[in-house]
Amino acid sequence: MTEAVFAETIAKDQRVEPRDWMPDGYRKTMIRQIAQHAHSEIIGMQPEGEWITRAPSLRRKAILLAKVQDEAGHGLYLYSAAETLGADRGDLTRRLIEGRQKYSSIFNYPTLSFADVGVIGWLVDGAAICNQVPLCRSSFGPYARAMIRICKEESFHQRQGYELLMTMMGGTQAQRDMVQDAVNRWWWPSLMMFGPPDDQSPNSAQSMAWKIKRHTNDELRQRYVDMSVPQAEALGVTLPDPDLSWNDERGHWDFGAIDWSELQRVISGDGPCNALRIENRRRADSDGAWVREAAAAHAARHQEVAAP
Ligand code: ACO
Repeated sequence: MTEAVFAETIAKDQRVEPRDWMPDGYRKTMIRQIAQHAHSEIIGMQPEGEWITRAPSLRRKAILLAKVQDEAGHGLYLYSAAETLGADRGDLTRRLIEGRQKYSSIFNYPTLSFADVGVIGWLVDGAAICNQVPLCRSSFGPYARAMIRICKEESFHQRQGYELLMTMMGGTQAQRDMVQDAVNRWWWPSLMMFGPPDDQSPNSAQSMAWKIKRHTNDELRQRYVDMSVPQAEALGVTLPDPDLSWNDERGHWDFGAIDWSELQRVISGDGPCNALRIENRRRADSDGAWVREAAAAHAARHQEVAAP
């Protein structure tokens, strides 16, 4: 496959597969985005994982456990997709724990009450779905296909979060206050998940041209706001933005200014929980070293025995 065939594949909306010729920049961009996405899933297990032992009922514990396991699964599919491009999983993990590769800003905020579990499901997984459904049509085959299954599971995650919040909103005043407090803390960071504004997004133009991204950061953020406002109304919570108002002319909700300096701070490692998240990951990596070594020794032994 040559450059012309690659260009034709993109123009015809077909998929680029791992063995096809692709520009170095395309390969690098795909590895960057897929690795960041995989790291987000793996680090994303922590904020909610902290609540597994403290879930208020067996039912909530079982749901949360399943959800956190799903996140691990998403990370694994995504690392596998990155491997089809020649990336090495061990190397990607090292880049994460040495702070050389990013993961989503959203997972650097603390989960202060059980309502946060519901709000993460509703708002954070809702934002993830909004961002990831178009990625099912992303031009790189293994990534697009992984995204189909991931989005199905994310939809379940979002439903469980919304259902949890509905239950809490039907409870005591103290429970309703917990939900509102969690919404107040997570709303703005959720909007930041979509990335910097389009005029400050260095990768968007090229990723759109290669059809890796199908919509810009701002387009998806607007779609998310439009989707969330009626859901907040149905739930009976207030989104913490006094500038939120329906704009008849645009046919969209207007919203207030986002504090982009906060996103920059969190991305550059100075969010409320960055150090903790990375420290936990580093410890998991070193604690698990003996398992990887044993598995490798077992595989080598198996090969020796199997060899004629
Ligand atoms: N958190 C951390 N880093 C971010 C964020 C964020 N919310 N938004 C943007 N960035 C990073 C980008 O990765 C990029 O970093 P790099 O160039 O140094 O590698 C830089 O900021 C500039 O941003 P953009 O030019 O807009 O980058 P890009 O075109 O890659 O768009 C986006 C960012 C929208 C996150 C895109 O990579 C994407 O859609 N990724 C797949 C989805 C994903 O990773 N989701 C993870 C969270 S959802 C979940 O796990 C439940």
